[in-house]
Amino acid sequence: MCGIVGYIGKRKAYPILIKGLHRLEYRGYDSAGVALINEQGQLNIYKAKGKVAELEAYAADKDTGGTIGIAHTRWATHGEPNTVNAHPHYSESERLAIIHNGIIENYAVLKAGLQAEGYTFKSDTDTEVLVQLIEYTQLNRQADLKTAVQLALQQVVGAYAIAVLDKEHPDTLIAARKGSPLVVGIGEDEYFLASDATPIVEYTDKVIYIEDEEVVVLKSPIANHQSPIDITTINNVQKTPEIKRLELSLSQLEKGGYPHFMLKEIFEQPRTLADSMRGRVNVRQDNIALSGFIDNKDRFLNAKRIIITACGTSWHAGLIAMYAIEEFAQIPVEVEYSSEFRYRKPVINKDDVVIAISQSGETADTLAAIQLAKSKGAFIFSICNVVGASIPRLSDSGCYTHVGPEIGVASTKAFTAQVTALTMLALCIGREKGTISEEQYLRIVRELGQIPTKIERVLEQDRQIAQFAKIFTYAQNFIYLGRGYNYPVAMEGALKLKEISYIHAEGYPAAEMKHGPIALISQEMPVVVVAPHCGTYEKVVSNIQEIKARKGRVVAIVTEGDRVVSRIADYTIEVPDTEECLTPLLTVIPLQLLAYHIAVEKGCDVDQPRNLAKSVTVE
Ligand code: G6P
Repeated sequence: MCGIVGYIGKRKAYPILIKGLHRLEYRGYDSAGVALINEQGQLNIYKAKGKVAELEAYAADKDTGGTIGIAHTRWATHGEPNTVNAHPHYSESERLAIIHNGIIENYAVLKAGLQAEGYTFKSDTDTEVLVQLIEYTQLNRQADLKTAVQLALQQVVGAYAIAVLDKEHPDTLIAARKGSPLVVGIGEDEYFLASDATPIVEYTDKVIYIEDEEVVVLKSPIANHQSPIDITTINNVQKTPEIKRLELSLSQLEKGGYPHFMLKEIFEQPRTLADSMRGRVNVRQDNIALSGFIDNKDRFLNAKRIIITACGTSWHAGLIAMYAIEEFAQIPVEVEYSSEFRYRKPVINKDDVVIAISQSGETADTLAAIQLAKSKGAFIFSICNVVGASIPRLSDSGCYTHVGPEIGVASTKAFTAQVTALTMLALCIGREKGTISEEQYLRIVRELGQIPTKIERVLEQDRQIAQFAKIFTYAQNFIYLGRGYNYPVAMEGALKLKEISYIHAEGYPAAEMKHGPIALISQEMPVVVVAPHCGTYEKVVSNIQEIKARKGRVVAIVTEGDRVVSRIADYTIEVPDTEECLTPLLTVIPLQLLAYHIAVEKGCDVDQPRNLAKSVTVE
C-alpha cells in the first residue's frame, strides 16, 4: 500500500526520487523518506511525517547529493505514521537502508531471533526487521548482498516489494518482490525502480515487470559491468529479463487544467468510455467483439455459475454485472467481496468462471481470491485497468478497460469502464447462448455507441450540481436509494461521498428503506434517489413519497422529461433516456459530481482523502 521508487545512474538521484514519490503519492501519504549514497560514500536518510512536500521542506537544507537512492511514501500498517516509522530504515550498523511495500507476517518471530543476537530496533515496523535480517545474514553467513537478500527473503512470510542500498556497494541497487508490484525502467546508462510505471514514464518506455520471488540487481555505470541487470529468484535460479514497451504518456499523468485529478477523470468519461469500447463495439456492424471472450467461449458457455470477486468501487461494478449477466446470459451469478471470499472456504467448481474486477490489478485480497479459485480449477477472467498488473497476469483471460491512469483516490472513470466491459461480456455470452433476443441485443449495442455523448449531456449540469452541493455541505448523514441496476449505483454514490467528504452515507435498495432507514428520515436528512424511468420506476416514486411524507429532503436523479418525480422531489438532476442496463453509466455521473463538489465546499483533500489509498496491496 506504499509507494517505492529507486534510481541508479549518472544523474542526481534526489530530484528524480522526489518527482517519483509525488506520482506515487496516491498509494499512501502519511509519511515519506529518502536514502542517498553521496559522492563521499555516506548513506544519508531523510524522513518526514505527512506528505512528500513535508519531506522536501525538511531536506531542503540537507546534503541531497548522490547518483543512487531509494525513496518511499507510506500508508501505515505496522506502527503509527511518524518519522521513526517512516521508511527508509537503516540496519544495525547503518550500512544498509531499505524501503518496503507490503507486510512481513512473521516479523515478530524474526524480530525476537534478531533481538536474541543483540540487534536493537528503533521503529515499530516489520520493515526494520527485514533490513536487520539482511545485515545479519551478510555478516553471519559471509554472504554478498544479493545472497543475503535472497536468504533473508526465503525466511519471510508475507508480501513485499523492497529496495536495498548498501553503502559498501555504491554501484549497486537491489530490489525484490512478492505480492506487491515492482517495475524496472531501463534508460541510457541508468535504471529506475518503482511500484508502477508512473515515475518512470518521462525517462524511458522500456520496462521490466519483476515477478513474484524475483530479486533484481542493478549496476551502474552500465559500461563497467558485464551484466548490469541480473534477475534471479530468491532460490538463485537465473531468469532472463523480458523488456516490455510502456503504453503510457506523460500528459495522461497531468491535471490538464482541472483543479483536481478527480474532476478531470469525471470529465474524461465520454472519451474513456469510447476508448473502452474501441475495437470492441462495432455499431455499424451491430456487433460486439471481445477477444477475451471469443478465445474462451466454451468456458463461458459451459459455466454453471459465475462468481464475481472485487473490492470497493469495483465490487459495485460487479453487482451491476450480476443484473446484466443474469438477464442476458441466464447464468447464475454470485458477487463476493474478495476479502470474505478468500477466507470463507467457498465451494468452487472446475466449471465455474471467476471474474475478478480491479482498477489497479494489484488489490491484495482480489489477487488472493483468484489464486484460491485458480487452485480449484476455475477459469479466471479479469477486468483490469493497469496493463501488466498482477491480477491480469495471473488470469486465464480478461479485458482491459483502457481508461488511462486513474490518479484520484476515489474511482470514477474506472468504474464506468468496468460496467461497460462487463455489460459487453454479458451481451456476448447472451448472444452466443441465444438467451437474448437479437432485437434487444442490437438495441443495446447501438445505444452503447450513444453513451459517450449522453454522458457529455450529464456533465453539462456540473454547475447546477455544484449549487446543490452548497446546500448540503452542512449535512452529517446522507441516504442513497436505488433499485435494480441502480441499487449498486446508490451504494457507489454513498461510497464516493464518504470517501472524499467524510460525511456518513448509506446506500440502500429503495424498497428496503421501510425496514430500517426510514426511521432516520427527517428534515435534516438528505436522501438521494436514483430514479430513472425504467424497471421499477413506479415503486421508486412511492418510496420518494414515503420520504416526503416524513419531511426528508430529496435529490432525485431522473430521466429527461420526467414530470412525476420532479414535482415531488426537492431537487432533480436529469440524465438522458437509455436502455435500463446502461442507466448506471449515466446516473452515476451526477453522484460523482455531487460528492466532488460537497468535498470541495468542505475544503477536503479530494484527490488524497485521509486514511485511504488508491491501491490496497495489503490485506
Ligand atoms: C481502494 C480504492 C478504491 C477501489 C478499491 C479496489 O479502496 O480507494 O477506489 O475501488 O481499492 O481497488 P481496485 O484497484 O482493485 O479496483
